[in-house]
Amino acid sequence: MSNPSLLILAGDGIGPEVMDQVKRVVAWFGARRGLGFDVSEALVGGASYDVHGVPLTDAVLESAQQADAVLLGAVGGPAYDDLDFSVKPERGLLRLRKEMDLFSNLRPAVCFDALADYSSLKREVVAGLDILIVRELTSGVYFGEPRGIIDDNAGGRIGVNTQRYTSGEIRRVARSAFELARRRNNRVCSMDKANVMESGVLWREEVDAVHADEFPDVELSHMYADNGAMQLVRDPKQFDVIVTDNLFGDILSDCAAMLTGSLGMLPSASLGAPADNGRPKALYEPVHGSAPDIAGEGKANPSACLLSFAMALRYSFDRRGEADRLEQAIESVLAKGIRTPDLLQAEGETPVSTEGMGDAVLEALEASL
Ligand code: IPM
Ligand code: MG
Repeated sequence: MSNPSLLILAGDGIGPEVMDQVKRVVAWFGARRGLGFDVSEALVGGASYDVHGVPLTDAVLESAQQADAVLLGAVGGPAYDDLDFSVKPERGLLRLRKEMDLFSNLRPAVCFDALADYSSLKREVVAGLDILIVRELTSGVYFGEPRGIIDDNAGGRIGVNTQRYTSGEIRRVARSAFELARRRNNRVCSMDKANVMESGVLWREEVDAVHADEFPDVELSHMYADNGAMQLVRDPKQFDVIVTDNLFGDILSDCAAMLTGSLGMLPSASLGAPADNGRPKALYEPVHGSAPDIAGEGKANPSACLLSFAMALRYSFDRRGEADRLEQAIESVLAKGIRTPDLLQAEGETPVSTEGMGDAVLEALEASL
């Protein structure tokens, strides 16, 4: 049997340097755990625009559709700020999500004990935190039509975006959240703005219907998304799984990221429906962006990207033990006080480089055998 295929799209900014560390870890699993992957690489985002004039070519999209899993670094940067929306680096990522129909975006926020003092919140609020945000990823205001900037014929302009959800889109992401909750602590909190938006009213009704019909054993609660943001920083441990729409999920997941100490720690998985081989279409990426301010300096934390590969082991390749192994390796490195600059705190602590972090993780992996 041939190896599963892994398409690497390193992208822009710190994407390539954090992905370099992932490539080393992927190779380690091949050499030391008999877990070989057929790895290929391609361009996305600004890196693709520079060569092809578009942030994602049809050929790369096709490879992504065929791959068993896609690993993405980051897209975007100030060099592309003035480009038309249609060719901005971010469009490459959005097109991948949309065309691969990756509707369920899993963003776990786990606070490693060694980092509980790094959060901007008090240790007791975040220590032991383990929550999962499930963000709808292929619809809502990110994709709704009409959209654009139009003339108001009176000397001004109007910016238009459309929040739009079908019941089917809500139901499938709700189902995904309930299924995940069953494997965790069996609780789902759904966040919407049903107090001001019709799309929120529908969201709530459909989540309730899926719950009543298929998941009555899971505990369900609802919250307005603004209150949800407040509750996330007040008492994040009250949550298990949070399910929410595309835009609220974008914002709430950045908020949740800081609970864990650094945006450099947060992985994500974007999953679609199962393909012919039973595997879901899948793209894994760190939640942090391209961080152009530190790109190329070896300061980026590769943990989020490494943890994204751990999610691939778990959700695409059903190798939970190996996923645990990688997560524990990262945790043990942090417990030893080895830190990239995003996590530096105490005076006198010397940071390691991106590559130094990779070295330490590989060492911890070796030690795990
Ligand atoms: C994210 C990012 C993206 C988003 C950008 C890069 C398009 O912020 O994945 O959270 O807004 O979805
Ligand atoms: Mg975001």
